[in-house]
Amino acid sequence: MARILTGIQSTNIPHLGNILGALSPAVALSKNPNNHCIYFIADLHSLTSIKDADFRKESAMAVAATWLAFGLDTDKNILFRQSDVPEVCELTWYLGCFMSYQRLQLAHSFKDKSENLSDVNAGLFTYPVLMAADILMYDTEIVPVGKDQKQHIEFTRDLAEKINHQYNQELFVVPKEQIDEQVMVVPGTDGRKMSKSYSNFINIFLPEKELKKVIGSIVTDSTPLEEPKNPDTCNVFALYKLIANAEQTNVLREKYLAGNFGYGHAKAALLELLLDYYREPRTRYNELMNDRGLLEAELKKGEDKARSIATPVLGRVRTALGF
Ligand code: AMP
Ligand code: TRP
Repeated sequence: MARILTGIQSTNIPHLGNILGALSPAVALSKNPNNHCIYFIADLHSLTSIKDADFRKESAMAVAATWLAFGLDTDKNILFRQSDVPEVCELTWYLGCFMSYQRLQLAHSFKDKSENLSDVNAGLFTYPVLMAADILMYDTEIVPVGKDQKQHIEFTRDLAEKINHQYNQELFVVPKEQIDEQVMVVPGTDGRKMSKSYSNFINIFLPEKELKKVIGSIVTDSTPLEEPKNPDTCNVFALYKLIANAEQTNVLREKYLAGNFGYGHAKAALLELLLDYYREPRTRYNELMNDRGLLEAELKKGEDKARSIATPVLGRVRTALGF
């Protein structure tokens, strides 16, 4: 049984890019009977950027509802909210005292923002240490992440090895990263990478009318309706083919090439595909968001299961360090 752990920051409602790039593949991993998956909502990490309390709470709920809507089985696996197991903050302190200041200065999460040091809070600087605590707290073996997180896993491995060596025992399980080199980059409505910060994202949970508006806003060129169009340079087609099966994709490709098929038609096809493909998660998500009791009960169940793993690990660490 492999222990797999990953976290998604709760900085908004997960968009189509988060779902196709991270959430769906993680749910697929959890379906393997040989895997035990621990997935969490990284709301403590979100405080490095988001200060609005209501927005944070709501985003955490939205991320939880998305995991559940996509079919994560929480009897077999664990879904919890990071801040519900504050023991991770204690472990963060211990790990921080072994983390080299100079190495932390090299973290991309910090370096990318370091031209504007006045905007950098200490939480952002020590972000990788909290992430290491997330991982080491649960004796994690495998961490599936995007390429951008590779360095954080290296920090975590080095910390675990350094402390194990210094205290001459297998205090921490040394985790391995799992990076899908072919991760798809989901384009946004303007053709750039779909991202919350570009405001080009698609929220698939919107009511049909609003979703239609967002799909309508996808940028296309001005080729007249009658003329044949190039599917391979079209943002609508790019999104369509990420979700559709090969046959559906070919049918749409032929329509582009044949002419007399406008971008309005293509957008209608994409909308229909999204509504059909995500019918169940859309319904389930909205049910869950309207039943906070159920969501909280799920998170409580996750908290209890997560804590039952975290408590003995933290006990081991306290003893080894002399606390
Ligand atoms: P973020 O909210 O940007 O930290 O992303 C959370 C997860 O979603 C990470 O695993 C990202 O790699 C993934 N992700 C975010 N945006 C996209 C995108 N446009 N295409 C594919 N994956 C994405
Ligand atoms: N830093 C990760 C991200 O932004 C989120 C995260 C926090 C995480 N703790 C983690 C991912 C532990 C994997 C393991 O995507």
